Amino acid sequence: MSKVPVLVTGGAGYIGSHAVLALKDAGWPVAVIDNLSNGSRSVVPDDVPFFEGSIADRALIDRILAGQRIGAIMHFAGSIVVPESVEKPLDYYANNTLASHALISAAVAGQQPAAVSVPGSLNSELGCAGDWMPDCPQAQLALDPADGIWKLSVPNLPAGNYEFKAAINGSWAENYGLGGAANGSNIALKHDGGPVTFRYDPASHLLSTR
Ligand SMILES: NC(=O)c1ccc[n+]([C@@H]2O[C@H](COP(=O)([O-])OP(=O)(O)OC[C@H]3O[C@@H](n4cnc5c(N)ncnc54)[C@H](O)[C@@H]3O)[C@@H](O)[C@H]2O)c1
Repeated sequence: MSKVPVLVTGGAGYIGSHAVLALKDAGWPVAVIDNLSNGSRSVVPDDVPFFEGSIADRALIDRILAGQRIGAIMHFAGSIVVPESVEKPLDYYANNTLASHALISAAVAGQQPAAVSVPGSLNSELGCAGDWMPDCPQAQLALDPADGIWKLSVPNLPAGNYEFKAAINGSWAENYGLGGAANGSNIALKHDGGPVTFRYDPASHLLSTR
């Protein structure tokens, strides 16, 4: 496995902080999320990106997964005091079971493809050898880690009526059309000429232009 960035949840706690050190020693890029309910910021090395907040905060998790290009998660965040868990079982259910479910849901939804392209009738205008080429280098979008959206800015697309789709990993095997539908209809663009930016959202599979 290549050394993808690892998100350590509960990385300011007892087990998580040692996992962070072991990962760093082994050369893995690491980031930490911890709400500091039972951890300490000071045990996380200064050169490790630290995010204070809950694993149940979907917006925060989405931002970390995209922004840090996380490829794996080691999950140690949770509540661990056995007598307290007997007194407050619902609190423990919420923080251990429901919050873990939220984290895993975000991880599943946040999986990014290796490549996204915009095959269509505009490919030759982009400099491709022909149209409808999902593997054309000039038709590839790039992932913006700030918001997890794939983008391709074309500085000057000639005026015309174009059609296109989103293709995943450089082939037609997985593609999305109108409304983000798998194998859906072509998306139409009536363009007056000039700059246009293609935006693909991997969560909804919607491909839009601005
Ligand atoms: N300590 C042990 O000996 C031991 C042994 C076996 C398994 N474990 C397991 O390892 C895990 C971690 O245990 P620990 O001993 O390091 O506990 P810990 O309390 O030291 O660490 C847990 C960390 O998670 C953080 N946290 C709690 N809820 C959070 C949330 N919703 N979002 C973000 N951060 C949150 C806390 O602030 C804390 O820093 C637990 O699942 C525990 O059951 C621990």
